[in-house]
Amino acid sequence: MKGIVLAGGAGTRLYPLTRVASKQLQPVYDKPMIYYPLATLLGAGIREVLLISTPQDVPRFESLLGDGSQWGMDISYAVQPEPRGIAQAFLIGSDFVGDRSVALILGDNIFHGNIGLARLVESFTTGAHIFGYPVRDPERYGVVDLDHDGNVRSLVEKPTEPISNLAVPGLYLYDGRVVEMTEGLVPSGRGELEITDLNKAYLDRGELVATRLARGIAWLDSGTHESLLEASNFIATIEHRQGLKIACLEEIALRTGAITPAEFATLVSAMAPSTYREYLERVAAERA
Ligand code: DAU
Repeated sequence: MKGIVLAGGAGTRLYPLTRVASKQLQPVYDKPMIYYPLATLLGAGIREVLLISTPQDVPRFESLLGDGSQWGMDISYAVQPEPRGIAQAFLIGSDFVGDRSVALILGDNIFHGNIGLARLVESFTTGAHIFGYPVRDPERYGVVDLDHDGNVRSLVEKPTEPISNLAVPGLYLYDGRVVEMTEGLVPSGRGELEITDLNKAYLDRGELVATRLARGIAWLDSGTHESLLEASNFIATIEHRQGLKIACLEEIALRTGAITPAEFATLVSAMAPSTYREYLERVAAERA
């Protein structure tokens, strides 16, 4: 399966942080936000990734992430000239996707805990797969209603009257028909190709599956100054307690076999002295 990270948008809510660099380049504790969704994909074995962002930010992501080969990944880039909806990612990335199945993750979505993505990716064949995550304020998100057997009953984008407390996080799996299905969408009232409309199109065909994320999983928001700080505090608390890093791409690449121990050692030795490098040296020593 291929992966798309959508990391555009205006980021106006984080002004003035986002005056010079986009939201997804901002720090979440000790690393740029974009590391977290990339780690979610890499940890699930998805190494071929297209990153889509604004014309100004694509070069910045390129200088941060390069071609991804240092992590055993293949990262390419595409521009979204205007934010015309999350589903537009499949039109922009149509050549990249071809007729392969693809995972889309939003560049500001942070997951912590085992969401079982690797297994899902491995067994995925047709249709579309979304997740449901209980939140206090479902009206801020796409919301999914599931019946007792876990089948999707309905799906609404930012409902005024919540149909359930299950928000749909920005992580979606689609089969090889996703480009064609997106071409059939009509822009919403706000002029966007809505991801919820794409999911509804799969639902109408009886091909949408949802997994309710377990309560131990954290799905963090980073769209406001408060939630960005909370996300940083959350990551810092767990990293301090465990002495382990979350979304450390080098470590994930090593542990999933995307790079060899020798490649890992070369990568670490080229790194500037930092606590990040010290951590990686510890990882290498523990595995030796
Ligand atoms: O975070 C999950 C939610 O994301 C879902 O529950 C909703 O169904 C989905 O519509 C979306 O809601 P948001 O209100 O968070 O969408 P927003 O427009 O803020 O975009 C989410 C991220 O995607 C944001 O970081 C910017 C990026 N984006 C968005 C659009 C519309 C783009 O890169 N390009 C776009 O055209």
